[in-house]
Amino acid sequence: MKTQILNLNNWPRCILVLCNFGFVEFLQIVLCNWYFIFSAKPIKYKTADSMTKKETAVLYDDIAKPKTLSRNADPCTAKGCKWPKSGSYVYVPYFISESYSQKERSIIIRGLQSFNVSTCIRFVPWKCGDRDFIYIENKDGCWSYVGRQDGGQYISLNKGGCLHQSVVQHEVLHALGFNHEQVRSDRDTYVRILFENILPDLKYNFEKIETNNLGTPYDFNSVMEYRNDAASKNGKPTIVAKCNPNLKFGNAKEMSANDILRIKRLYECCEYPVDNYTVSN
Ligand SMILES: *[C@@H]1O[C@H](CO)[C@@H](O)[C@H](O)[C@H]1NC(C)=O
Ligand SMILES: *[C@@H]1O[C@H](CO)[C@@H](O)[C@H](O)[C@H]1NC(C)=O
Ligand SMILES: [Zn+2]
Repeated sequence: MKTQILNLNNWPRCILVLCNFGFVEFLQIVLCNWYFIFSAKPIKYKTADSMTKKETAVLYDDIAKPKTLSRNADPCTAKGCKWPKSGSYVYVPYFISESYSQKERSIIIRGLQSFNVSTCIRFVPWKCGDRDFIYIENKDGCWSYVGRQDGGQYISLNKGGCLHQSVVQHEVLHALGFNHEQVRSDRDTYVRILFENILPDLKYNFEKIETNNLGTPYDFNSVMEYRNDAASKNGKPTIVAKCNPNLKFGNAKEMSANDILRIKRLYECCEYPVDNYTVSN
């Protein structure tokens, strides 16, 4: 068992501890006012995105295979993996690993702020007593769980390739419950998946899912859309647009209007005051 104390916040009132027991990727112990709240959580599923960006050197392929559960908005959003709304806002606590430099940290914060300013999602610093939260860590590749997980969840943003606005937004969108564009329930109308060109181990990332598309169109400019050659084993395309086989996509630099609209619809954001967009730590 490896234990790591990651944050001391108002000692002795609050400690966030992440432990590692072999295959159980992490346990979290939150000590608040001397009471232990203990939660052990084996990995459920997550999506590996290393193939979404060519420049990402670290290829992630580890324990968790989104085989049975992996699923625009995942079906789980109808069953409790949405983040709860409190008044007009959806508060999502976040914790950013101390392993990032100030500059790296500000890229991540800017990514989180982009949600603050365009939707009713409010990423707020983790504080004592927050059971569910995202923990952004420099792990192996760019990946995230889909939807809210009980007891805290990692978002991995490796320093060597994931620190871009589009990738931060992409992984955060997963955590908010969204899937890749090319697995949408209606994707066969818009794209052809060339399974014969996909790396065998990564085929699961292209399985269609009964997503809730929230009345929004298939969007090649979505930050959730993979590149034409994502996870290709031979350099040939893996996703082809039916409307135009030569269309190049999957290079969005930031969330599209549809990405934002989906968040607003899923979380039923009403009119909201826009916070000032400033980079702080
Ligand atoms: C988002 O907004 C909330 C509430 O207005 C604020 O506390 C939080 O610091 C903001 N998050 C970021 C990342 O700027
Ligand atoms: C944003 O900044 C402007 C100028 O500093 C200020 O007048 C306004 O009240 C601010 N809005 C919010 C929501 O803080
Ligand atoms: Zn992804």
